[in-house]
Amino acid sequence: MEIKHSLNGEATHRILKRPRVTPRFLSESEIREEFSHHQSGVARINNGSYGSCPGSVLADQRRWQLRFLQQPDDFCFNTLRKGILASRTLIKDLINADHVDEVSLVDNATTAAAIVLQQIGRGFAEGKFQKDDTVLMLHCAFQAVKQSIQAYVTRAGGSAVEVRLPFPVKSEEEIIMEFRKAIEKVKSDGRRIRLAIIDHITSMPSVVIPVRKLVGICREEGVEQVFVDAAHAIGSVKVDVKEIGADFYVSNLHKWFFCPPSVAFLYCKNTNSSSDLHHPVVTHEYGNGLPIESSWIGTRDYSSQLVVPSVLEFVNRFEGGMEGIMKSNHEEVVKMGKMLAEAWGTNLGSPPEMCAGMIMVGLPSRLCITSEEDTVRLRSHLRDCYGVEVPIYYQGVKDGEMGVRDKNGLITGYARISHQVYNKLEDYEKFRDAINQLVEDGKVCKMLLTQ
Ligand SMILES: Cc1ncc(COP(=O)(O)O)c(C=O)c1O
Repeated sequence: MEIKHSLNGEATHRILKRPRVTPRFLSESEIREEFSHHQSGVARINNGSYGSCPGSVLADQRRWQLRFLQQPDDFCFNTLRKGILASRTLIKDLINADHVDEVSLVDNATTAAAIVLQQIGRGFAEGKFQKDDTVLMLHCAFQAVKQSIQAYVTRAGGSAVEVRLPFPVKSEEEIIMEFRKAIEKVKSDGRRIRLAIIDHITSMPSVVIPVRKLVGICREEGVEQVFVDAAHAIGSVKVDVKEIGADFYVSNLHKWFFCPPSVAFLYCKNTNSSSDLHHPVVTHEYGNGLPIESSWIGTRDYSSQLVVPSVLEFVNRFEGGMEGIMKSNHEEVVKMGKMLAEAWGTNLGSPPEMCAGMIMVGLPSRLCITSEEDTVRLRSHLRDCYGVEVPIYYQGVKDGEMGVRDKNGLITGYARISHQVYNKLEDYEKFRDAINQLVEDGKVCKMLLTQ
């Protein structure tokens, strides 16, 4: 498909409005071809960590890169801003934002966290907030986000409170109850919550959080601002930012939305050029509003931000488009999770309705996973010796907790499996057999070697 990128931001208009014959759906072999750059023989069941990008989108990315290299000055003056605006407009419609100025494209969720947390940090540094006012987060918030709180908020005089969530989790109510308790505790200590950070889908362990309900609780309880870290959301769950109601919402486009690494959108409700939100990399665009600041952060490759139209073309070649892909990934990952849990005599980490394209599966207790180091050893061993790429989570059992048991003992490790359009049953069977082999050979995590 020819895309006229350079005509006064018309790209979006043309792509959305142009009547055209719907291409037929991709066949199995065409899907294989789209991902033929994946290392063959490897069971990639970890889409969650890095995402994946089909060949047709990579080809479009290459065309954008060449356009820059062919005539850089023309590209920067006449093409780049309009191309980014076209992508932002498509995202705005997908997530049901009110205005394209609420949508900025940034490198990744980590950058978005810096933007939001630096704004909070300035509240402390400039004396608008009281010492010990608080940022609230889930205890399983992404480590980079926790470190950003430390760097930008705690160092500026703020405090941070973690909400401990149960795992394995049985229902949304368990999460809602813990969240309410934590807010009440902070308020009863006389502290104000300046920002709550809520994951839409936690990373490790992975669980879909009832984010709309938690944002509602924040509003009822007078939490000042809410930032949803939805790094895994777009392309794996429905995203409607108006329905969710947060002030800030970030999702990576390179995880489940098929963009090349790396690009994320950051939605900021009702922003305008006077909002005190800034990109951490400052250029001559400083003060022109976050979307514009973000669309020029110095000379670099912006191509991953420009391919959103071709991603939509790709997903529309699946039955049901993006929604069809999400539904199928969810159904398949649940099926594969159940198959593995049954084969190993273990459990799932959450009910199926609390997962999207990833699910946690208990590992046999005979692997004796007793620390984070053990999970790294197992992950590396599976990759290096069996060609299986899958992240592993350590679930220690605290005093007084019962934990979950298989027939030999406590389950202390969980695998986070993903399903994406390129996955096959064989990928999960390979993982199943690798674990069975380790158990059969009496290998415990401490004795595992890697290449
Ligand atoms: C919940 C969550 N937040 C933030 C991130 C960081 O994403 P990125 O490395 O793309 O910035 C991740 C990455 O997996 C994540 O799972």
